[in-house]
Amino acid sequence: MLPLKEATSEKHRLAERMPFNVKMFHGELSKAEYLNYLIQQLELFKTLESKSLIHPNLSRIQPLLFDIQELANQKIELPPVLNATKQYTAYLNTLNEKSILPHVYLHYMAIMFGGQMIKSKVPSSGKFYKFNEMSDCIQSIRNVQRDEWAEEVNRGFDFTIQLFRELELPMEFENTSHSVQATI
Ligand code: HEM
Repeated sequence: MLPLKEATSEKHRLAERMPFNVKMFHGELSKAEYLNYLIQQLELFKTLESKSLIHPNLSRIQPLLFDIQELANQKIELPPVLNATKQYTAYLNTLNEKSILPHVYLHYMAIMFGGQMIKSKVPSSGKFYKFNEMSDCIQSIRNVQRDEWAEEVNRGFDFTIQLFRELELPMEFENTSHSVQATI
């Protein structure tokens, strides 16, 4: 059986090369585009963390709320949760504490590796990418990851790629005003 990283490297390459991600990597996202991304990440991490948090320092909800509030304070309009996010979180909600772990691996490793190369390029102070004792956080995931997860991690990459596609579309805002706290 291939090591997990190798068995998922093709999808990693596809995700990395999605135009939205490339723009983020090159520091080319507007504040509104980045806020749209953060709102989707908040929904995703709320779902992940409602099922499983294998190390307390992994939690991303407070850092995401901080980054979102920072942009909302600059009068950037809060975007809605996108369909791709709704579909992914609906799928994650069918999983349990154990079967969600491939998605935990996928999203926390994404910010602890690729995210470290992005954090200085985003139009925010980037608390989302800052972890206390990051090596312990990485180790907590290394301790549970399994090569058998490849198919499920690749499914998570497919949902993520779909989200990057939707993030590229022109933004639509709901008529109703809502606050950051209401998104928790
Ligand atoms: C600009 C975008 C991205 C860049 C530059 C990037 C870069 C990297 C790098 C340099 C590594 C470490 C590879 C190594 O150990 O040799 C890594 C690991 C990883 N990335 Fe990304 N990445 C990006 C986007 C993503 C996305 C969107 C996801 C999924 C949501 C993701 C998931 C992962 C995972 C799961 C690992 C851990 C692989 C392992 O060592 O087991 N990455 N990434």
